[in-house]
Amino acid sequence: MTFAKKNSSRKPNSWLGLGLLGLVAVFLSGCATGTPLDTLQPEGRESKVIHSLVGPVFIVAGVVMVFVLGAAIYMAWRFRERSSDDPDVLPEQIHGNNKLEIGWTVVPTVVLAVIAVFTLVQIFDLEKRDDDALHVLVEGNQWWWQFSYDLDGDGEYDIVTANEMVIEAGRQADLSITSNDVIHSFWIPRLNGKRDAVPGRMHTLSLESEKPGYFFGQCTEFCGLSHAEMRMRVIVLPPDEFEQWIQDQLADARPAETEAQQRGQEVFEANCASCHRIRGLETQPSDEKIPLVSNTAPDLTHFASRRVYAGGIFELYDDDGNVDRGQLSAWIRDPKSQKAMAPDEQRGMPTLGLDEDQISDVVEYLISTADGPVWTGPRND
Ligand code: CUA
Repeated sequence: MTFAKKNSSRKPNSWLGLGLLGLVAVFLSGCATGTPLDTLQPEGRESKVIHSLVGPVFIVAGVVMVFVLGAAIYMAWRFRERSSDDPDVLPEQIHGNNKLEIGWTVVPTVVLAVIAVFTLVQIFDLEKRDDDALHVLVEGNQWWWQFSYDLDGDGEYDIVTANEMVIEAGRQADLSITSNDVIHSFWIPRLNGKRDAVPGRMHTLSLESEKPGYFFGQCTEFCGLSHAEMRMRVIVLPPDEFEQWIQDQLADARPAETEAQQRGQEVFEANCASCHRIRGLETQPSDEKIPLVSNTAPDLTHFASRRVYAGGIFELYDDDGNVDRGQLSAWIRDPKSQKAMAPDEQRGMPTLGLDEDQISDVVEYLISTADGPVWTGPRND
């Protein structure tokens, strides 16, 4: 065979280049810090349990990889074709080597069995639920998440909110996860693994963090045009602040005060209230009227206590705590220009055709629903 020698002077260089490129890519990928979806910086009880397995399993897998790859490279070199070989003579043909075959059956079985024991123990650990857990119903919709709290365990939801789930530091949140339209997947990487939200099914997941904070999440099951723009946050509050949040949320919406707010409330009742609920208003959504596939739209009772809206893609407040009226107006003016939604489908918010005065008034009304956001700390700590 002559072709193997043709480019022999150039080959080592291209392999070296490729290898270096691979190494650089690996190193660069490790440079990102403070990224909001980092599973390797666990902050939750559950994500720490999972993380404690990641290291050991990675080491076992690494050893197996080095061993298998080393053996394969050694074999390829040891039994390579030599120029002295007669191409018409086949190498000695053997079939079966009992010692080897038993070896490569038994060794992986033992390795996997050991990993399985540790994994199973932790799976059961992840399924433990505390008696005093906070119960939250998590519903996926195209393209936003609804969180409903049953505080007294009577089966009725006392608080309904969207995009941001607020939980208490040091207390387990016991989630029941489902969907109102297509399959979504709920995932807060720094607190726990992901769980699919499937219509007609109820899946459970728990979240718990000792440390207060703002935790980022992203829908991880393709669910339509705005799948990539379907985000969620979990806000972990210290117990006293959590109790305050509960009391604030249990109250009905504040009555509109200024003239602009009152006009905004009228615009809201005439145009928005057929889909969006604001507790305390007389006009309320009726099930038949809502023209959406999911049959539901975010409850806006304490809209301004949330930092994000429209599926979590827009921030309502800037770093100084000022409302971004421009973005909120743009969203109300023409939602389909702000977020990927097929124009002819009843998914996502419709364009209402409000005039500029109506938009300005309804913005004033919406931001009068709370004094400011619940979480004013860093967006990702
Ligand atoms: Cu919801 Cu992807």
